[in-house]
Amino acid sequence: MKICVVGLGNIGFNLFAYLDQKFSGEVIGVDVNESRVKELRRQGYRVTTDYRALTGIDIWLMAPSTGNQGKNLFSALEHMIICPGALISIESTLPPGTMVRIREFLENRGFKLGTDIFLIHVPHRVMFGVDKTVCDTPRVMGAFTKECLKKGREFYFPLVPQLVEVSDVRVAELSKVVENVKRYVDVAFAQEIYGFCVSNGMSYEKLRMAVNSKNNVELLTTDWGIGGECLPKDMNFLRTVCPSALLEGAELADQGYRDRILKQVGISKEVWLRGISYKTGVKDLKHSRGVDLVRALEAAGNTVKVEDPLFSADELSEAGFNPINQQTVDSQNNEEDTARVILDRHKALEIKMWEKEQYDG
Ligand SMILES: NC(=O)c1ccc[n+]([C@@H]2O[C@H](COP(=O)([O-])OP(=O)(O)OC[C@H]3O[C@@H](n4cnc5c(N)ncnc54)[C@H](O)[C@@H]3O)[C@@H](O)[C@H]2O)c1
Repeated sequence: MKICVVGLGNIGFNLFAYLDQKFSGEVIGVDVNESRVKELRRQGYRVTTDYRALTGIDIWLMAPSTGNQGKNLFSALEHMIICPGALISIESTLPPGTMVRIREFLENRGFKLGTDIFLIHVPHRVMFGVDKTVCDTPRVMGAFTKECLKKGREFYFPLVPQLVEVSDVRVAELSKVVENVKRYVDVAFAQEIYGFCVSNGMSYEKLRMAVNSKNNVELLTTDWGIGGECLPKDMNFLRTVCPSALLEGAELADQGYRDRILKQVGISKEVWLRGISYKTGVKDLKHSRGVDLVRALEAAGNTVKVEDPLFSADELSEAGFNPINQQTVDSQNNEEDTARVILDRHKALEIKMWEKEQYDG
């Protein structure tokens, strides 16, 4: 069996490394990012940028970034040398309607699905920071034909805890997008209720504890805003095909919440911001609303210092931030405070003024 993982980013590389252990010597990876491939090769992985070197592949697992209207996926498909009998599994998140376009693409190249080649959609749903491996969650699989589903089942069934097969491939496509948009709406709701609590001098934490004591309810915590790559992108995918006042409202709520944080801080302050990774527990600054907030506060004339339990002061400096370190704390202790504020990622609307004994960072 020859397996190729297409796209070696967060998802693709983790998938590649996982399969490489299970099917030693049978897995190869491809990515268009030369520096990424060079680095992975240096670490000893069998990866390439050259699609022409990928011949006789039995199983293509596609996890590139989706790109506008699936652009990156189609670019990869253009370059792949597809052999008869191959299984092509699309693991990237798709704008609804993309699987039909992929089927047409393959049919235009003379392939008949279910006999010449087998096409399935098995959207990824890993939760980094929660799942141990990329194959820890139940997976949804959809296809256009029974034969494609069967071929997909043979590969995925032993790999994942549960395979949820759907005969309408559009359901598989939509399931991933809806999953993320549901989360988006839940967070936006939490932001609204948190804002209400702060405006009315009520404890949001106590409200959460009370509400969440019923086991079918989960009122979420809030952060700097709805970030990460996937949630805003997938909201956009869904809104494109499903006009909805609720979805529009959720986007407005998130924007309003982020504006309110900025407005509450104001201008010309020294701000200490606690927690900047894109989410708690994941050491990544890409698509972080914390980073957006730092830059917006600076643009408003504030001086911002940052700390995060996942990053050392040196790492924060290297990433272009002013770190809070013991030296900063000591110097603050010796100075008269005029306009220093402390912002905490899960209490972003509760601005605290600096007090020596209060700082427990
Ligand atoms: N990161 C997550 O938590 C997560 C979770 C579930 C689903 N997804 C979805 O999985 C897909 C990948 O996400 P990611 O976080 O790994 O993205 P990423 O940006 O970390 O990596 C994508 C990789 O794809 C490569 N790529 C782009 N075009 C290519 C092409 N034509 N051929 C080969 N490689 C190509 C890029 O160079 C990059 O290395 C996306 O559709 C995303 O929505 C991500």
